Amino acid sequence: MKPVTAVCPGSYDPVTNGHLDLIERGARVFDHLIVAVLQNLQKKPLFSIEERVELLKEHTARLGNVEVDVFSGLLVDFARRRNAGVVLRGIRAISDYEYELQMALMNRKMEPRIETVFMLPAEAFSYLSSSLVKEIAQLGGSLEGLVPPGVEQRLKAKVR
Ligand code: PNS
Repeated sequence: MKPVTAVCPGSYDPVTNGHLDLIERGARVFDHLIVAVLQNLQKKPLFSIEERVELLKEHTARLGNVEVDVFSGLLVDFARRRNAGVVLRGIRAISDYEYELQMALMNRKMEPRIETVFMLPAEAFSYLSSSLVKEIAQLGGSLEGLVPPGVEQRLKAKVR
């Protein structure tokens, strides 16, 4: 069987322990996993694209088959360019399903050769999101267990 490359796309603003859990699971299943950070010029992220990539690289360095890359434009175009046959996404709860289904089917319409694979993160991360993490940091709450300590420090420094 030929090696399978998967793309794990997202905004990663910033990376959370939920993302890292999914990336680790993906790295165990696929031969090569590309963590693809969306550079969306319309959105104003808290962390710059360089910072998001740096944090992801730092926290995935121990995973030998994981690479971090940046993309803009259509995800299917990026996956085609990188010869990836799979898009990996995490589903935390039923509420994620509708949006994920819509994206997966739209991506399939545009590129039928790319399969979307869903994985479930550890239950402990099922309520975790980058937006809640940013809100908690802004309001001075603890992020212990939700993001790596290095990310918590960077978040606190940003919102100070
Ligand atoms: O972390 P997010 O914000 O949930 O990730 C969303 C992401 C990056 C996977 C999605 O917005 C995306 O794929 N954007 C790229 C543009 C694209 O391909 N749009 C059509 C999707 S059907």
